[in-house]
Amino acid sequence: MIKVAPSLLAADYMRLGEEIRRMAAAGADWLHFDVMDGSFVPNISFGPELCRQAAGCGLPVDAHLMIVNPEKYIAAFAQAGARLITVHAEAATHLHRCLHEIREAGCLAGVALNPATSPECLRYVLGDFDLALVMTVNPGYGGQRLISHCVRKVSDVRRMLSEAGCEAIVEVDGGVNLATAPELIAAGADMLVTGSAVYGAPDAAAFIRALKGAAGSAAE
Ligand code: DX5
Ligand code: ZN
Repeated sequence: MIKVAPSLLAADYMRLGEEIRRMAAAGADWLHFDVMDGSFVPNISFGPELCRQAAGCGLPVDAHLMIVNPEKYIAAFAQAGARLITVHAEAATHLHRCLHEIREAGCLAGVALNPATSPECLRYVLGDFDLALVMTVNPGYGGQRLISHCVRKVSDVRRMLSEAGCEAIVEVDGGVNLATAPELIAAGADMLVTGSAVYGAPDAAAFIRALKGAAGSAAE
């Protein structure tokens, strides 16, 4: 079953609680919480206190840390109620240790890869993470177009996990909409982040149903 994680980045910031509850009622599975530090990525977004408040709005929090030295903030986001914490392979100097710290903090551990990063950096930490996040845009902003060659990387990551007998799931993030979801699911994505498309949809519930239904069209 495909999971859908609306990204809070695209919400109306003056009505955040309502926006999260609207997505929960529309059938979302996770709340994708984009953390940006103005250093790893050019933009600045949300911190642990907003995470703590957002975690009380009815969806498990998927914290995507687009920050340098992510190990410094694992405890803060775990204490703020994140269920899943994802760090970038490019930002975590000691990725193996970082993933273990996330699990020791009681969270699921994710590894994110920028579009130019090879899936090979996952090979020696297979078994140490629960989710691989394949970025399909350069992180930093919502509303970008999916970079089409990243779809092949989704298949490469999926194959590497299957061959290793690794049960981690594959999440994709960036430019996910009804046009791009079928190829991403066919390539092996299990969990779709969607920001501008879901928040811009006239009917979020119908949109999420259609995204999940894209699995059927991809499997045919
Ligand atoms: C980009 C973020 C994404 C973003 C996705 O840096 O990691 O989660 O919010 O937004 P859309 O779906 O609009 O590409
Ligand atoms: Zn994200």
